[in-house]
Amino acid sequence: MPSKTTDISIKAIAPISYTLYYGTFIHTPTLTNLEISFNTIVGVNSQGVIDYIYKEYHPIDHNSQSPIEFFCKQQGTYTDEDVNFIDISRDYTKFFFPGFIDTHIHASQFPNVGIGLDTPLLDWLNKYTFPLESQFCGDGDKKMEFAKLVYTRVIQRTLLNGTTCASYFTTIDPETSNYFAELLLKLGQRGFVGKVCMDCNEPYPKYEESLEDCIKSMNKIIDHLDDINPEFDTLVKPIITPRFAPVCTREMLTYLGNLSKRKSLPIQTHISENKSEIELVAKMFPDCGSYAEVYNRYNLLNEATILAHCIHFSPEECQLIADKNCSVSHCPTSNTFISSGEAPIRKYLYDYHINVSLGTDISGGFDSSILHIIKHAILVSHHLSMKPVEETAIDCKLSMTEGLYMSTMGGARAVGLEDQIGSFTKGKKFDCQLIDLSTTTTTTTATDVFAWQVPQASESADVKYAKMVDLLGKWVFSGDDRNCVAVWCNGRQVVDKTTTTGVDAKSNGVE
Ligand code: GUN
Ligand code: FE
Repeated sequence: MPSKTTDISIKAIAPISYTLYYGTFIHTPTLTNLEISFNTIVGVNSQGVIDYIYKEYHPIDHNSQSPIEFFCKQQGTYTDEDVNFIDISRDYTKFFFPGFIDTHIHASQFPNVGIGLDTPLLDWLNKYTFPLESQFCGDGDKKMEFAKLVYTRVIQRTLLNGTTCASYFTTIDPETSNYFAELLLKLGQRGFVGKVCMDCNEPYPKYEESLEDCIKSMNKIIDHLDDINPEFDTLVKPIITPRFAPVCTREMLTYLGNLSKRKSLPIQTHISENKSEIELVAKMFPDCGSYAEVYNRYNLLNEATILAHCIHFSPEECQLIADKNCSVSHCPTSNTFISSGEAPIRKYLYDYHINVSLGTDISGGFDSSILHIIKHAILVSHHLSMKPVEETAIDCKLSMTEGLYMSTMGGARAVGLEDQIGSFTKGKKFDCQLIDLSTTTTTTTATDVFAWQVPQASESADVKYAKMVDLLGKWVFSGDDRNCVAVWCNGRQVVDKTTTTGVDAKSNGVE
């Protein structure tokens, strides 16, 4: 891809014109607030930024003006010729929801989805993961062909599931990691690209790098991503990724901590996932006192750090993570699939005020849908609540609002984009999915909604809200990718399944 490309077949830079979206908008601006706004007009400008919000617009209250007429007259800057209009207001089984944010996913492990059930972490890495990641390494075209197949598919699949932003692990290889970043731009997903850093992999020495090679690779990636981002925006960013403490020398950890500070780059890693892993870290770093303290010692814990798993923390580690303002990436599907354990998420949220987000952890996790991860997070929390706990312990059961928050705003905070994505707020980017719960046949959507369960325009605000919460329950617990009928990232439409779902949409300028 040439530097600062102008090729508009690259979705991230496709030109867009002003678009008004009209209908039900649902989001969770805080951990406990599920906001449902009916008959709402949201305007998105040519930069993909939300610059207009008008709630409860009813033409009857405005001389029967359509939302476009009302908007154009009120704003004075556009004529209705200039403005695209997407209207779902007549159907309460359709709503707009912020795009999901997956804060922990291994793009390179996508072919292993569903493979390796109940193999504990350290064996699982040696048997399934390192051999697969090794295939992205070496010289020549073979690895690029392999990367093209795997990386295209994982981005397509996550987009189809409504993920508009993800923090990815790739492999130790720089060329295929750079190619992955190009694919993110091509397909239009916002993403963080984490070249995996590991220089002492004794159990599987074929898959490691020297510190010297790691430094060269990191420089290559940082430079390349600088080059390929569109001039008007930064959509793909590097993220510093020590795989986990057991495969990193102290020199490597020192370099990565310094690099993060020098270049102001975020950090992601694994921590406290599995008991044998924790014992191994204690043996390798006896002077550190705890797993979290290893990362702290090497300046890898700060407000831009995403820590995946965080299952077996001591109270001191919880406090350290809270003090350092790190975010947790909760990966309940993976934690269950490879039997790692149950993370006490409400304790982190409410006792320690730690920000928690959600991760698929493909392929420790088998499910690329963050919608399903919300469901698994809630189910795991119910299992935790059925165990005997100390009397003072907080109620472990996650609510649906908490799950939806972690999948959007919690993720936005984790990746440092809470001012730009995660909710529908003026000034934020339009990263959005259109959800359709209507059931015309039993095959086109996953959910079965009955007519009496759907809000009616004539009903009171309270009744409509309560009915919509029930519909959300149907979405979270019985929905799937069939319900996600359109996806926008940075204002650009990147998924469109609406031709078969009857959504009333004028062209939005994207082919
Ligand atoms: N710990 C170190 N590497 C990995 C990985 O690839 N997946 C998971 N789940 N845990 C890890
Ligand atoms: Fe992982």
